[in-house]
Amino acid sequence: MFEDIRKEFPILKNSLFGKKFVYLDNAATTQKPQSVIDRFTQYYSKENANIHRGPYELSINATQLWEQAHESVASFINADSYKEIIFVRNSTEGLNFLVNTFGRELLSDGDIVVISEMEHHSNIVSWMLLQKQINFKLKYIPVKDDLTLDIDWLKDLVKKNGKKVKIVSVVHISNVLGIKNDVEEIFKIAKSVDAFTILDAAQSIARCEVNVKKIGCDALVFSGHKVYGPTGSGAIYCKLEYLEKLTPWMGGGEMISKVSKDGFEYNDLPWKFEAGTPDIGGGIVLGSAIEWLKNTVENVGGWDVIINHEQGLIGYLLNQFNGIEWFKHFGPNDISLKYGVVAFNIEGFTFRGCKNVLNIETSRDGNGISEFLNISGVAFREGYHCAEPLHDKFCIGPTLRFSLGIYNNEEDIKYATNILKQAVLRGLS
Ligand SMILES: Cc1ncc(COP(=O)(O)O)c(C=O)c1O
Repeated sequence: MFEDIRKEFPILKNSLFGKKFVYLDNAATTQKPQSVIDRFTQYYSKENANIHRGPYELSINATQLWEQAHESVASFINADSYKEIIFVRNSTEGLNFLVNTFGRELLSDGDIVVISEMEHHSNIVSWMLLQKQINFKLKYIPVKDDLTLDIDWLKDLVKKNGKKVKIVSVVHISNVLGIKNDVEEIFKIAKSVDAFTILDAAQSIARCEVNVKKIGCDALVFSGHKVYGPTGSGAIYCKLEYLEKLTPWMGGGEMISKVSKDGFEYNDLPWKFEAGTPDIGGGIVLGSAIEWLKNTVENVGGWDVIINHEQGLIGYLLNQFNGIEWFKHFGPNDISLKYGVVAFNIEGFTFRGCKNVLNIETSRDGNGISEFLNISGVAFREGYHCAEPLHDKFCIGPTLRFSLGIYNNEEDIKYATNILKQAVLRGLS
């Protein structure tokens, strides 16, 4: 079943440096199935036109496709309507949109925004930038030693500060730990003081069911390129009741229905928030990728089958290092908590960008290990994965990360882990 899915991805048939190509950098971006690639070609060879403007066939058709893509996303995450879906370039743009609209409208000096210690930089730095203009406090839900979030800390914060807690914005699945947070509970606590709730679904959107009603978030972001779709595409979901009242971040064409020297009127939702010519091809192909994933999930028998498959591979991966002292997994050892991502350190080695962490003076340079993996055809990631505060908290330098996609198999894991063992042996000798 999963082998048939794998065959749909042409890039995986390639070799690299004459070696097997093993792609384990799916948390950074996913590869694309042939049908998604074909949809791109079809759009640009037969359907390209600007939307919502031209009275001619191609433009009318492109407009319909653009609107259908919004429908596909809405139905995938169980939103009420396509009007709640705004297309953007990626999760980062989505988060910056929310910070610069809701952040500006809801926050005053002394208010509190809650994020967590395992956020991606896009859900940290965007708030820090807004702090240059509004003097609100940015509080981090601590990550406990078992690597779960400290929900009691949040309860306590909310109890002490009540409605001063205005926004709670957290990641669904950590791109380093692979852990899925209990966001349902976090948002329930946030709602007890009417805080606005934001979910960063960048990693979860392709790894588990993301159902906005069950999760109970007011807004959500994800990137198209992490869900087997194109780069430059992504979406924000936001409840209609909020979007209706919200002032757009950007003004220009498309977001207005009327302009005079004295003022303007807004276009309908969601176009009110999509100023200028968007990435039409990217958005339409994102719709196709979402449809592809929806069908694939149905065909394999549901999300649980995909989760079991990925967790089985994670278990297999971690087993390859049983009894190996130098392999230091950075994540929960309970595999049922892990979704698609394995970050780790190699004791005795440091990697690019290493700061002053434990044992740095006695460590060897790990770049040779990375290079050996590279020339052996293994695609992986090294660094802080845009989650530097999380690494700092545990005094851990840059980590290596293997991350899975729907097409990875045991053979990939066996190959990559063998190469890693060889690389470390070479590094030690
Ligand atoms: C959890 C998380 N949030 C946000 C992002 C940002 O995504 P993008 O670079 O597509 O904007 C990433 C990217 O890795 C991520 O893993």
